[in-house]
Amino acid sequence: TSIQAFIQDLPKTELHLHIEGTFEPELMFKIAKRNNLTIPYADVDELKRAYSFNNLQEFLDIYYAGASVLIKEQDFYDLTWAYLTKVHEQNVKHVEIFFDPQTHTDRNVPFEYVLNGIYKALEDGEKQLGISFKLIMSFLRHLDEASAFKTLEQALPYKDKIVAVGLDSSELGNPPSKFKNVFQKALEEGFLTVAHAGEEGPSEYIWEALDLLKVTRIDHGNRCLDDSKLIKRLAEEQMPLTLCPLSNLELKVIKDLKEYPLVKMMEYNLLVTINSDDPAYFGGYMNENFGGIAKALNLSKTQIAELAKNGFKASWLSDEKKESYL
Ligand code: ADE
Ligand code: ZN
Repeated sequence: TSIQAFIQDLPKTELHLHIEGTFEPELMFKIAKRNNLTIPYADVDELKRAYSFNNLQEFLDIYYAGASVLIKEQDFYDLTWAYLTKVHEQNVKHVEIFFDPQTHTDRNVPFEYVLNGIYKALEDGEKQLGISFKLIMSFLRHLDEASAFKTLEQALPYKDKIVAVGLDSSELGNPPSKFKNVFQKALEEGFLTVAHAGEEGPSEYIWEALDLLKVTRIDHGNRCLDDSKLIKRLAEEQMPLTLCPLSNLELKVIKDLKEYPLVKMMEYNLLVTINSDDPAYFGGYMNENFGGIAKALNLSKTQIAELAKNGFKASWLSDEKKESYL
């Protein structure tokens, strides 16, 4: 079989996905219209032309603007359902996805609308599409720690629905240490923790995520390659890195997929996984990320299969469920 067919058939996980980053332009216009809101772009084509970014912040500005038309519980349901049907076609079996409550609660959208809309779609996806899931609540790191604490308080009644907290948004200047206390509280409350680190920020941020936030995965983590002691630690602990090749390309974290240091990372025995981050903005879901990197690096089917298996290993599925995929 062709590489693309091989990738399509592989059972896959998605461990680094912002649900707000799956908001396709067509759905964005539809939801804006029914909420009597406007987007400052004439049509889908004009909006898509704006998707050209020199760095993370340029993307985030457009991403938050897009998310601002999400108002009702049904909007969050429709967003999540559209994502699930899409990745179902790509043979994704398990997803551990982020949502950014502050993006919505700061616009006076109730926390419950956001959570319930997303969660009901995830439950329907499990029942109707056979996709298992975990939900991660991510704090926006450009906001202060007090706002993160407030968000954590809102999540406490929903510990049965939210398994972990994460950290995303503008990385440079907002180190993990800024959120040490709120992560400590989240850990005490029984949440797992993850954090974006080493996407644009330095390797020190990865150390902080490990030592101060006690993360069980690093989201991105590319910059670990600057630090041999850190590489050794990540390999020894088999700390998963949730890599996002097309995101890194579109946000100029790397110049060319051909330069993607994936094979080097695998040689260092790092537990690397392939994910899509914000697929509506970066030109592809799971198959396109796998396909892009496989082509650029001329990966073998063995290497591709190992990457897909790493996703299950790095997931929070029970050992029994993991085994069924490995
Ligand atoms: N929010 C959505 N996508 C993100 C990314 N790639 N980095 C940081 N924050 C994000
Ligand atoms: Zn991300």
